[in-house]
Amino acid sequence: MEQITHRYLDKWEKLSTLTWYPELRNYTLDIACKLIVGTESGSQSKLGEWFKIWCDGLFTVPLPMPWTKFGRALRCRQLLLCEIGNIIQQRQQEANLSQDTLGLLLQAEDEGKSLSLDELKEQVLTLLFAGHETLTSAIASFCLLLAQHPEILATARTEQQHLGIEEPLTLEHLNQMTYLEQVLQEVLRLIPPVGGGFREVLKPCEFNGYSIMPGWSVLYQIGKTHQDSSVYQQPEQFDPERFSAERSEHKSKPFSYVPFGGGIRECLGKEFAKLEMKIFAALLVRHYEWELLPNQNLELVMIPTPHPQDNLQVSFRRIQSKS
Ligand code: HEM
Repeated sequence: MEQITHRYLDKWEKLSTLTWYPELRNYTLDIACKLIVGTESGSQSKLGEWFKIWCDGLFTVPLPMPWTKFGRALRCRQLLLCEIGNIIQQRQQEANLSQDTLGLLLQAEDEGKSLSLDELKEQVLTLLFAGHETLTSAIASFCLLLAQHPEILATARTEQQHLGIEEPLTLEHLNQMTYLEQVLQEVLRLIPPVGGGFREVLKPCEFNGYSIMPGWSVLYQIGKTHQDSSVYQQPEQFDPERFSAERSEHKSKPFSYVPFGGGIRECLGKEFAKLEMKIFAALLVRHYEWELLPNQNLELVMIPTPHPQDNLQVSFRRIQSKS
């Protein structure tokens, strides 16, 4: 993760002005491809283009014609599954399965049975999708909110300077970055990448005077939960201090902070996501500064995941030499 992050940061420095969102998508896809299926620069392969078209068609009118967004998304899903099938079959022929996610899935057994090729393809597709689309949104929101709140960026940068940590970063280093952790928690509270999730009701229950029956499908809304003013003071404000040890507002009620969902179907990639966000954030804050370019629309488009309308146009430069 750290190597790929450096590669992209160097590239953006050379560009000096850029439209960040598509770059961030390439960045997160490269990391997902490397760690999940072991391929380099996945975003520059056909996978990058197919994922984009697939995601653009996920929340559209389900008209399966070749010229509709939905139809194009279905076609790209098939192309993605086919390409993932090729990657899996190639790996199956290699003696060394390696320790990326695909290697682990190929070795996994349940009651003596391994996953079939179709099951493997579906699992890898889900992981590649879940492993980059949400993270792109989360990281872009971090960049946007810090550009809009220079005092918070300054505090995060001061923390890095005080810690004086050498690179490469270790998990122990990352754990020492407590203010940066609060900032990332607050980014995911204020602009959660996922809107919500469905649950099936198992036991009859009552909510606000309404009876809810077993078998019903219910939706939990993440953004609305994070705006609950009985939990969060001035919930509309970007205030990382609410996650400080003293305030810990999110602990006042169970399930008040759910960017990754909750319960046994909580996000499988939560730790992967938190790690990637922290590495990205630490390296960015330590070495670079960025400004929002004028005359762009920063309003958030919520589908498929929250992102600024004009894809976040910035100027980008280095502030100090790397240690
Ligand atoms: C900031 C980044 C991410 C956010 C905000 C996020 C959020 C979520 C949410 C809200 C759910 C639904 C949980 C539920 O049904 O209650 C979920 C499920 C899931 N996520 Fe993530 N996710 C992120 C990154 C990732 C990554 C990096 C991966 C994989 C590498 C991943 C893999 C999955 C999978 C496989 C599920 C389905 C789990 C299940 O149904 O058992 N996610 N995620």
